Amino acid sequence: MSAKRESFGSRAAVVMAMAGSAIGLGNLWRFPYIVGENGGAAFIIVYIAATLVVSLPVFFTEFVIGRKSGRGAYESMSSLRPGKPFWKVAGFMCILTAVLICSYYSVIGGWSIDFLLKSSMAEFTGNSSGEVTSIFGKVVSAPFEPIFMHLLFLGTSAYIVARGVKSGIEKFSKICIPVLFFLILLIIVYSVMLPGAGEGVRYLVKPDFSQITPKALAYALGQSFYSLSLGMGAIITYGSYVHKDENIVAIGSMTAVSDLLFAILAGFAIMPAVFAAGLEPGAGTGLIFQSIPYIFSSMSEHLPIISTIISIAFFLAIVVAAMTSCISLLEIMVSFLNEKIGLSRTKASIFSFILCGGLGCICSLSFGPLSGIRLADKVIFDIMDWFCSNVMLLISALFFVIFVGFVMKKEDVKNELTNNGTKRMNVKLSNLIFFQIKWVAPIAIVAIFVANFIL
Ligand code: PHE
Repeated sequence: MSAKRESFGSRAAVVMAMAGSAIGLGNLWRFPYIVGENGGAAFIIVYIAATLVVSLPVFFTEFVIGRKSGRGAYESMSSLRPGKPFWKVAGFMCILTAVLICSYYSVIGGWSIDFLLKSSMAEFTGNSSGEVTSIFGKVVSAPFEPIFMHLLFLGTSAYIVARGVKSGIEKFSKICIPVLFFLILLIIVYSVMLPGAGEGVRYLVKPDFSQITPKALAYALGQSFYSLSLGMGAIITYGSYVHKDENIVAIGSMTAVSDLLFAILAGFAIMPAVFAAGLEPGAGTGLIFQSIPYIFSSMSEHLPIISTIISIAFFLAIVVAAMTSCISLLEIMVSFLNEKIGLSRTKASIFSFILCGGLGCICSLSFGPLSGIRLADKVIFDIMDWFCSNVMLLISALFFVIFVGFVMKKEDVKNELTNNGTKRMNVKLSNLIFFQIKWVAPIAIVAIFVANFIL
């Protein structure tokens, strides 16, 4: 273990770093279209409830484990429950999941850099919808360019992680989160002013409760889980860098509010523009890499400069949001290699870069030369995403809630949540939170797991 553990400098720094992990591709790409497909405002209400009832308690669980143990994901649980090797295995699962997610997440990060460069060179100007779609197809299936961009994205993230918790992660997040909110607001102003944008706003705000099916419920839970970066020890790791006198409940709530707010803002940035351009709102991955560039392309005739600026703002937001999330994934590995194997942060970052870089290359090639390798018609990239999001994350999260709900002493958990009884508001809430951790969260996690297979 390294001699002295770093910690974040202030509460604002912790919230920015955690929000940086939470706000990512999940908010910008997945949330807006899931909302539209599942009942608009009615889904947003269900999503908020899912966050309050299930995801936030799981967030507290990870936070408690991290701060109480003062260790990264691998050793955190086993250090609180010595002599039980199972908890090391559970910790190791986190590292493995982080490696896998980081590998394909940074491939998408690479595409975003590519699109950022393309928009700054006004490459999306005056193209037809078909032409823009084919640009995306060419970008992802090329053998070298996406790999280069992926390594550039991952390398930059690894460089920031190597600089340390305070001078790297904290500093970067403190700049990036305000910038992200600024960029998204700028895009909203543009987007809602487009002719025909009103339909997109209605799509997000019109509550349609008839669409709240069991499937929508499972989506809401799964999405809020992924969006808060739960189930792989990212919050355990960041939590281990938080001072003992900080308020876990307050920080968790601020992180969840920022994440939710950003997701809703992303919806208002994207959907009005999608409707104004007469495009399909549920376009999946294609939404940000095909529909949006087409919108900029079609607007460029009338407003060439503004549409170029907005398209740069949009892809910059994606790069930055994805990078702060990727950093938290890398930190899970780096803290493990640093504390357990004794590698310096720089060496640990280089090692993680090589490992995730290599795996990411395979993911990237699975859209091109390796596209023939398939399982249930899914290419390697999709298999990894499916396996991590639907299996690994949920199993780890189940371990966390069982650990805090059943293995740790209730008194220790409460002390952590209330700072030894000194936070009065938290004392009032702690019984409810403990109940949610012990009973509600495990049931909900098993339900999402089953729903993912049968619905
Ligand atoms: N929360 C991130 C997003 O919304 C994804 C992520 C998951 C990042 C887990 C880190 C850890 O895109």
